[in-house]
Amino acid sequence: MTGEAMTRAIGYDESGAGQPVLFIHGFPHDRSLWAAQLSGLAARARCLAPDLPGFGQSAPLAGAPSMDAYADALAAFLASTGIARATVCGLSMGGYVAFALWRRHPALVRALVFASTRAAPDTDEARAKRRDLAELVRHEGSGAMAERQLPGMLGKSTRRRHPELAAAMWRMLAAAPLDGVLQALEAMAARPDSTPTLSTITVPTLFIAGAQDVIVPAAEMRAMHEQVAGSAFEVIAGAGHACNFERPAAFNHLLGEFLVGLDGN
Ligand code: MLT
Repeated sequence: MTGEAMTRAIGYDESGAGQPVLFIHGFPHDRSLWAAQLSGLAARARCLAPDLPGFGQSAPLAGAPSMDAYADALAAFLASTGIARATVCGLSMGGYVAFALWRRHPALVRALVFASTRAAPDTDEARAKRRDLAELVRHEGSGAMAERQLPGMLGKSTRRRHPELAAAMWRMLAAAPLDGVLQALEAMAARPDSTPTLSTITVPTLFIAGAQDVIVPAAEMRAMHEQVAGSAFEVIAGAGHACNFERPAAFNHLLGEFLVGLDGN
């Protein structure tokens, strides 16, 4: 099902019934990143995949861009769907938003799944790269951004063996609206250090890394996992940064088992 939230124009897809799972895409994706999760996990959960403000069919943020602003928009979105508590699953930038949701709206968070993401803030070098990318998109458009971002987005096995996935990812990146891209780059560059947040997490938490991720190495995610009491850590072989998109069956298996573990708790 496709819907439009009653809050500030949030486009989203929904499938299934049961315990709610909120999927938060990365940069510069849209909700279609999670298509294989919405089809593969519908028998087990009520899956919701919104477009973050400024991406897909969602209106850009109204005020200054920040992870807090994205988190507040998603909290309003959940309220509009009548969901009081959800497992929050964020990939990369979606993970940055999940940290902000946990800090600002902990009562909404039943459990956390961090995929291909990091707790650390941007380095000066990373901020300079974001300024450079913003210039590129302003002058040459999202297609040029897609060319630059694609190699890091997918693992080498996927790029070699699945040209159709590389083409689909390219189309997603190239479709990203300028306003949304510029807001997200600003918000990511300014995001706080979430490392101190790790030890505050008291809900069941799963970390999923792609073994071939060159943006967030699996070792960095393992170090995050070690700071969250009782959390689990899994690595998907043959997958890069967009691990849920590259190896959906493996990702769905891990997430499905995690959700089974939550049932009845
Ligand atoms: C993402 O996939 O969301 C990006 O790699 C995040 C980032 O640029 O920090």
